[in-house]
Amino acid sequence: MILKGKKGIISGALDSQSIAWKVAERCVEEGAQIVLTNAPVAMRMGEINSLAEKCQAPVIGADATSLEDLENLFRKSMEHFGGKVDFVLHSIGMSVNVRKGKAYTDLNYEWMQKTFDVSAISFHKMMQTMWKLDAINDWGSIVGLSYIAAQRVFPDYSEMAESKALLESIARSFGYHYGTAKNVRVNTISQSPTMTTAGKGVKGFTEFFSYADKMSPLGNAPAEACADYCLALFSNLTRYVTMQNLFHDGGFSTMGMNPAILE
Ligand SMILES: NC(=O)c1ccc[n+]([C@@H]2O[C@H](COP(=O)([O-])OP(=O)(O)OC[C@H]3O[C@@H](n4cnc5c(N)ncnc54)[C@H](O)[C@@H]3O)[C@@H](O)[C@H]2O)c1
Repeated sequence: MILKGKKGIISGALDSQSIAWKVAERCVEEGAQIVLTNAPVAMRMGEINSLAEKCQAPVIGADATSLEDLENLFRKSMEHFGGKVDFVLHSIGMSVNVRKGKAYTDLNYEWMQKTFDVSAISFHKMMQTMWKLDAINDWGSIVGLSYIAAQRVFPDYSEMAESKALLESIARSFGYHYGTAKNVRVNTISQSPTMTTAGKGVKGFTEFFSYADKMSPLGNAPAEACADYCLALFSNLTRYVTMQNLFHDGGFSTMGMNPAILE
């Protein structure tokens, strides 16, 4: 029970494939109390309610780009818990240009702004809202989910590459402020390709998934294993890990070439 007595907020559980879904289940198994949140439009799809029932968790809708919604989320969560939270998962990503099939050399910049707002700036908005409301306990932990396209070129990932670079940078910068003020740590986990709604939205995802699987000595890390890594970061076992982008990818990020690819 590595999270016994801890309280946390989990964003981004859309369906049972979602990484956040597995994180929520594992947090509760390990003794945490949680609040679930997602964009109102995702909540209307209804699947999150079955997770909420299983986890005995309230669902508080919030568009992560809306400061008003975020303030409501943190206020209501603190009311529910009768105190501050100990951990938060940001598991939110969406690219308008990718969704609409726009080429990287023909991006619509309004859509690009929206992509950055949803996928990266929302992480800052979450933390700034928590900061102002003093919503997280000392030695708390905040985790965002990233992808290696922040460092290397994966052409079909398009503007999500810049979104992830921004997300990782926000983790470092806010990590400084939160670390200094409250010993709160902020990290991103750079996860293997994973078969989820967001993942499958990227062109050629199935082929790429199997390429990455072969390239990685341990194979692609599944969502369940990513959930375990999130739990490790929420737990007291990682109190001095902060401002890091942590690869959770079966070794992919360190490989140059794997002979298995040529077979
Ligand atoms: N699937 C992969 O291959 C992969 C790999 C590395 C990192 N990630 C990252 O993991 C995170 C979770 O994605 P996933 O793969 O579980 O897919 P998912 O589609 O299940 O989750 C994405 C979530 O973002 C939510 N969302 C979108 N817009 C929102 C908004 N405005 N406000 C609040 N929530 C909003 C969606 O409702 C959804 O629940 C994302 O940051 C994604 O980029 C995914």
